[in-house]
Amino acid sequence: MLAKAHQEKFAICQFNINNLEWTRYILEECQKNNAPVILGVSSGAAKYMGGFLTVVSLVKGLLHDLKISIPVILHLDHGGSFEECQKAIDAGFTSVMIDASQYDIAKNIAITKSVVDYAYPKVTVEAEVGHIGGEEDSVISDIYYATVDDAKRIVEDTKIDMLAPALGSVHGLYQGEPNLNFERMKEINDLLNMPLVLHGGSGIYDEQIKKAISLGICKINVNTDLQIAWSTAVRDFLNNNDDVYDPRKIIKAGERSMKKVIHEKLLLTGSINKA
Ligand code: 13P
Repeated sequence: MLAKAHQEKFAICQFNINNLEWTRYILEECQKNNAPVILGVSSGAAKYMGGFLTVVSLVKGLLHDLKISIPVILHLDHGGSFEECQKAIDAGFTSVMIDASQYDIAKNIAITKSVVDYAYPKVTVEAEVGHIGGEEDSVISDIYYATVDDAKRIVEDTKIDMLAPALGSVHGLYQGEPNLNFERMKEINDLLNMPLVLHGGSGIYDEQIKKAISLGICKINVNTDLQIAWSTAVRDFLNNNDDVYDPRKIIKAGERSMKKVIHEKLLLTGSINKA
């Protein structure tokens, strides 16, 4: 899936899932648009849903019952340790991210390599170099940005399938303007010529997303934009419908807004009809 995206210069969306309804809305909208998709599951979301096995069963059930035929990858987002990645793989995840970016590059490489050795050849592995900030980071300082040297080392030493180099994007809402280092992105892409991942895909301008895709980004992670679309619609629905108490009606109030954002992201990343 990623090799095709890399070759044809489009990006596959990773949409993070939080519950059954989110998973369903994402799968339905991607199926409707004939777009391949990556379902991202953070460890927090996996715990929230009951555990890795529950998530795998939930996704498998929906793929079957909704007759989903597009390619779907179930991916652990920001796996915090070898053990966590191992548990996700054993439960049936088809892809994992090991995020050991808080350690020095040697330790990051060692941990990442242990995950690749366990995952290969059935499960794909993503790793991070540099440090992707959060919305608490008002200033993304230079030390957050991945270096070309670290990117080269981790890829050569571990043979990961995808690399997430931190280049100025943040998870959650931006405080101020997104400041992506496209020059560094180009250098890394020219040198490594492999699938690169852009985290923090919410709140980045469309033109920046397009430029990133032209520079080798072929997986874009989106979570916050869906959360905002869903919660805004549900809040509005509750404010206007005092008498409704059926949870199905309340949760479903966010469906249309979420699917609209999903469609916009698929359009922007060029993944429509790429299944
Ligand atoms: P956003 O929440 O900013 O869209 O980031 C999602 C992400 O990168 C998940 O890994």
